[in-house]
Amino acid sequence: MRMYDLIMKKRNGGILTKEEICFMIDGYTKGTIPDYQMSAMMMAIYFVGMNEEETLHLTMAMANSGEILDLSEIKGIKVDKHSTGGVGDKTSLALTPMVAACGVKIAKMSGRGLGHTGGTIDKLESFDGFTTGISTKQFISNVNDIGISIMGQTKELAPADKLLYALRDVTATVDNMSLIASSIMSKKLAAGADAIVLDVKTGSGAFMKSEADAFALAKEMVMIGKNAGKKMMAVISDMDQPLGRAVGNALEVKEAIATLNGEGPEDFTELCMTLGSCMLLSAGVTESREQAEKMLKQVIDERTALQKLADFVKAQGGNSEMVYKPELLPKASIVTPLTAPEEGYINKIICDEVGICSLILGGGRETKESSIDLSVGIVLEKKAGDYVKKGETLAFIHANDEEKRKACEERLLAAYRISSEKKKKESVIKGILN
Ligand code: URA
Repeated sequence: MRMYDLIMKKRNGGILTKEEICFMIDGYTKGTIPDYQMSAMMMAIYFVGMNEEETLHLTMAMANSGEILDLSEIKGIKVDKHSTGGVGDKTSLALTPMVAACGVKIAKMSGRGLGHTGGTIDKLESFDGFTTGISTKQFISNVNDIGISIMGQTKELAPADKLLYALRDVTATVDNMSLIASSIMSKKLAAGADAIVLDVKTGSGAFMKSEADAFALAKEMVMIGKNAGKKMMAVISDMDQPLGRAVGNALEVKEAIATLNGEGPEDFTELCMTLGSCMLLSAGVTESREQAEKMLKQVIDERTALQKLADFVKAQGGNSEMVYKPELLPKASIVTPLTAPEEGYINKIICDEVGICSLILGGGRETKESSIDLSVGIVLEKKAGDYVKKGETLAFIHANDEEKRKACEERLLAAYRISSEKKKKESVIKGILN
C-alpha cells in the first residue's frame, strides 16, 4: 500500500477502506508517513469529507494507536463526560462531584487550557497542592475509594490524535466535522469508560457556530460511541455567551463551589442538572431524568456533593479547607467595575472576546509553555437579555497589573452589545440526543 495512492483516491472522491485508514494512521504514528503527505490527506478529507464508516474506522485506528485504559478494576459503571469547550466552562468542577455523590464512578482524564478557553486541570490547581499527575494505579484506587478522580491525559492515550491534531492546527484542517468527531471520540474511547455524555457547544464561542452543525457533530459522535459499544448521550448547549458569570481559573472554582452550595447562576446550574441527569441515566442509577434531577438536587441541598468535592481535592493532595472557605482561593489585587456607557438591553456578549479578555489579564496560555495567573478573570454581572441603566456595573475585572486591566476593560466593553431592543433570555439547553 502507498500513501500517495490513498491521497489520490481521497482527492478524487473515493471512500477509504478500514485497511487503508489503519495503514495511514499506523504509518503516521510510527513516523514512516511524513507530515507533508498526511497534510495533503487531511486537506483532501477536508474538501471531500468522510462517510460514517470511514469516520468510525479513523476513530478506532486513532484510539488503538496507544494504550486503552483498563478500568476493569473499578467496580460499577464508569461514566465519562466531555465538553467541546468554551468560555467560563467550569462544568466538570461542579458536575463530577454531584454525580459521584449519587453513586456513579467518575474516572476522568482532563486537559489544560490553550488559547482563550480554560482547562479543568488549570482550574483545579487553584486548590493549593492539588495535582492531576497521579499514577493510573492511584487514579483507579481513588475512584474505588471516593468515587471520583481526575488525571491528566497520559502520553500513551491516542498518540495518533495528538500528532494529527497538532498537524491540523497548522494546516487549516481543524474544522471538519468527521475530523473533530474522530479526534474527540478516539480519546474518549481510549479512556475506558462504559458510558459517555457529551456536552456539544454551539454559538459564537464554540467550534460549531450554528445549532445545525452542533447537532450534526453530536449525532456523529453518538454514532461512533454506540458502534464502539458505549452508552452514549449528548446535550447541545449554548456558548453564544460565557457560561455562568465567572471567567478565570480561581473565579470559576468559586462559582462551582457556590453551585454546590445551591447558589450557582441559573444557566450553569441548569446545565449541570441536565448533564448530571444524563450521566445518572446512562449509568442505570435512575430510569428517568426527572428522578435523576431529584437525586442531584438532594445531594446539593444536603451538601454531600460539596463534601465529595472536598474528598476528591484532598485525595489528590489539595487543600480541601478551600472548598469550605473559598475566600482562601487565589485572589487578584485589583478589582474594578466595568460600567454601562448607556442604558438598554444586553443584546449580545461576544463570547470569544470575553475569553480573550481573561487571556489578556494572564488567566490563559498563549502557548503550551506559558504559565498562568490563577487569580485573574472577569465576573459578568449582566448577561444577554438583562436590562442595564447608564453607569450600572456590567462586570468586574479581577487583575494584578494595571496595564493589562486597562487593555481588558476596553476590549470587554466592546464585547457588550447594548440596544433599546428587548432581547428574550434563552435556555442554555438546545437539545438532547441519544
Ligand atoms: N477537540 C479535539 O480534541 N479535537 C478536535 O479536532 C477539535 C476539538
